[in-house]
Amino acid sequence: MFEAKAIVAADKPQFYRDLASSLQGLLAGETDPIANTANSAALMFLTMPDLNWAGFYFLRDGDELVLGPFQGKPACVRIARGRGVCGAAAERRQTMLVPDVHAFPGHIACDADSRSELVVPLIKDGRVLGVLDLDSPTPARFDAEDREGVEALAAIIVAATRW
Ligand code: SME
Repeated sequence: MFEAKAIVAADKPQFYRDLASSLQGLLAGETDPIANTANSAALMFLTMPDLNWAGFYFLRDGDELVLGPFQGKPACVRIARGRGVCGAAAERRQTMLVPDVHAFPGHIACDADSRSELVVPLIKDGRVLGVLDLDSPTPARFDAEDREGVEALAAIIVAATRW
């Protein structure tokens, strides 16, 4: 049995090192994309403070993001590439750190409680597979350290999984 305990860390970089090591353990020996993204969403939602949504969208047919495993309220199912924060991350192939979602043109409000968002594209061999999306009810919840930490988590998920 895997125990997702609260992570007590001296600072954020240490928190993300501990979380990365938990994630490695959780995904070890499994390559299924649904199993790995489902367990990753659960681990992040349980251990990262102040989130109201944690999950994945998969890029389908090259131009549409489709909802994958997540924790939080039911969410928008399909997002065109380029739309919203998730679509922008997939289109630009770069992490989107949005301190105030109300100030982001085209933000898609799946959960009215969301105030800030961090979206990391999942990229393997130059191909965008989808995005990892984290939402928080607190404005400016995510900073550069979260971005770096969550990009490292995304890299672990991409590497562990057979897409
Ligand atoms: N807010 C996202 C949509 C996905 S939900 O937050 C789960 C966006 O603007 O792309």
